[in-house]
This record gives sequence, structure tokens and C-alpha cells, in this order.
Amino acid sequence: MKILVTGGLGFIGSHTVVELQNEGFDVVVVDNLSNSSEKVLDGIVAITGKKPIFEKIDLREKESVQGLFNKYQDISGVIHFAASKAVGESVENPLLYYENNINALIYLLQELQKIPKAHFIFSSSCTVYGQAEKMPITENAPVQKALSPYGNTKQIGEEIIQDVTKVSAIDAILLRYFNPIGAHSSAFIGELPLGVPQNLVPFITQTAIGVREQLSVFGDDYPTSDGTAIRDYIHVIDLAQAHVVALKRLIESKNAEKVEIFNIGTGKGSSVLEVITAFEKVSGKKLNYKIVGRREGDITTAYANTDKANSVLGWKAKLTLEEALASAWKWEQKIKR
Ligand SMILES: NC(=O)c1ccc[n+]([C@@H]2O[C@H](COP(=O)([O-])OP(=O)(O)OC[C@H]3O[C@@H](n4cnc5c(N)ncnc54)[C@H](O)[C@@H]3O)[C@@H](O)[C@H]2O)c1
Repeated sequence: MKILVTGGLGFIGSHTVVELQNEGFDVVVVDNLSNSSEKVLDGIVAITGKKPIFEKIDLREKESVQGLFNKYQDISGVIHFAASKAVGESVENPLLYYENNINALIYLLQELQKIPKAHFIFSSSCTVYGQAEKMPITENAPVQKALSPYGNTKQIGEEIIQDVTKVSAIDAILLRYFNPIGAHSSAFIGELPLGVPQNLVPFITQTAIGVREQLSVFGDDYPTSDGTAIRDYIHVIDLAQAHVVALKRLIESKNAEKVEIFNIGTGKGSSVLEVITAFEKVSGKKLNYKIVGRREGDITTAYANTDKANSVLGWKAKLTLEEALASAWKWEQKIKR
């Protein structure tokens, strides 16, 4: 069965390609390399012994998307990772985000709705919940007005999928990721942030290795046990496996609705200082960090209630924060700069 993985050379996409190939799926990877490198293919081959088909295509080009589906007529499912994802950049250049994250989605769905039975998995985000009132966050928590154009593209994307599945043979699963971190245990693939990392863990590992001088901890006056913000950090391998489980659910027609939504997290919240302490323990490195003011747009606490994913999807995060941090550190030490 041929599965199209858009953004398949990116952080989460590449780990998912590995898990798909390990499960025997035939994968076509599409990526325009705007936030990744073709070398990631070598890492995938090193782990799985198999090179996926790779098409360097920009999904903003409608004709290219059409050409792709004409070339591979046996595509039966799409896992759609490709998107621009930097929150700050989306505020400065909203149209880039609406064009990339929305147009590409529309062109893919236009092709998919021509297929008799099509499966679609969408990378959504816990940002749709904003600062939820109750912890842990269930899928029934209200979607709140997005704080950035990036967040808005995820909400609009979810709505587009809801509308299209009503009038087509496409069935979809929306996965709302919490905070993906870590790397493959082999360190052949991992996260490769371009420029200054926006996320905590790549910033930690880059500081530990000396690429960054100091880590800024944004705010220690939040109403949490140690004053720093709390997030649900999920190992990228667990996250990748959630995609395989979701895809199989659609293939086997086990889905209860045309669109199902699942939180994908560990269910455990960790504060920034807890992550730093855990990193120092697994790496044996003392981290140079300082507390600075809060960063605009950051919420206090977000961690998932994963009961629905556990019971309905039959998926549960298995790897610990320490394992994720150790893998991220191993990867960081292997990156050639
Ligand atoms: N990493 C996170 O913290 C996080 C959290 C929640 C949701 N998500 C979502 O998960 C998805 C994957 O995230 P990631 O962290 O792997 O990002 P990433 O940037 O590492 O991967 C995205 C990939 O898509 C490619 N791409 C972007 N626009 C494209 C286009 N027009 N045509 C073809 N390829 C294109 C990029 O080159 C990159 O390889 C994104 O949709 C992101 O919004 C990520």
C-alpha cells in the first residue's frame, strides 16, 4: 500500500517514514527542502535499509500536486506534515503561512477526493486549545481563538478537513500533538532547526554543545510549582508510531466517525526547570541558563489527557522524558556543523 508522506524529510515526518517502512508500507516522500535536507534520506536508509521514493515538490504548486497523483495512482493515504511552523515568523509574514499551510492542504484534498477510499492524517497541535481551563486537556476542551497565524492555520485546516470529509470518500484523523522532542536512538535522524531554535530542547542541546552561549528561561513567575511553564514533552518515536496506528485504523475501517481527533502526548506535564534538571542528569553537563521575562504568547500549562488515544486508538506513549533528552543529546553530538 502506497502512502504519501508530505514533509517526510522534516523532524516528525522522517521518524514516521522510518516507522512506516518498518511496518512494511511503501512510502513516497514529498518535500521542498525548505526546512530540511536531502541527506535525511541517508539516515532513513541507514536505519531501515530501504530508500523511500523521494519527490522534491513544492505543495504550493497545484500542478505539481496533480502531477504527483497522476504519477502514483496507487496512493491510498496521505500523512500531511508539510507546513511552516515558526510562530513568530507567522506573525511577521502571515500570508506565507496561510499560503503554505492552507493552499497545500486544499490541493492535496482535491486530489484525494478523486480516490474511491482515501485516508488522511493531519498534523494538528495542542495550540488549538490555547490556555485550556482544565488540566489535563481532553479533546472536548473548546478550541480557542488562535494567538498567531500559525495556530490559526491549524484550526482552519481542521475545519477544512471536517467540511471535505462530509462530501467525499476521505476519512481523516487529526492528531493534536503536544511537544515533540528527541531523536531516533541510532542518531541517524533527529531535529534540525534552522537558525535560532524556537523550542526548548534544541535550545538546551545547542547550549550544552556550545553553539548557543546561554539558554533563556522565559519567566519564573507562572502559577506553577517552580514558577516555570509546564508542557507535555512527547518522544518523537512515540509520536511517529501514533501515525502508523492511526493510519492502520483508517485502512481497516475501524474509525467510528469520518473525522476523529486524538491528543498525542504523554499525559505528564514537566516544567522548564524540570526539563533542564533531567537534561543535566542524562548528559552529565551543567547548563548555562538564566531566568528572563515571560515570552509573549506563551501559556502557563498544557498537558494532555490521553485516555481517548489509549483506549480508542490503542496507542500509548512508552518512552520517558529522560530517554527523549538522552536521544536528543546523542543526536546533537552527531550533527556536523
Ligand atoms: N514540531 C512541533 O513542535 C510541532 C507541534 C505541533 C504540530 N506540529 C506540526 O507537525 C508538522 C511537522 O512538524 P515538524 O516539526 O516535523 O516540522 P519540519 O519543519 O521539521 O518539517 C516540515 C517539512 O515540510 C517541508 N515543507 C514545508 N512546506 C512545504 C511545501 N510547501 N512543500 C513541500 N514540503 C514542504 C519542510 O521542508 C520540512 O521538511 C507540521 O505541520 C507542524 O506544524 C509540529
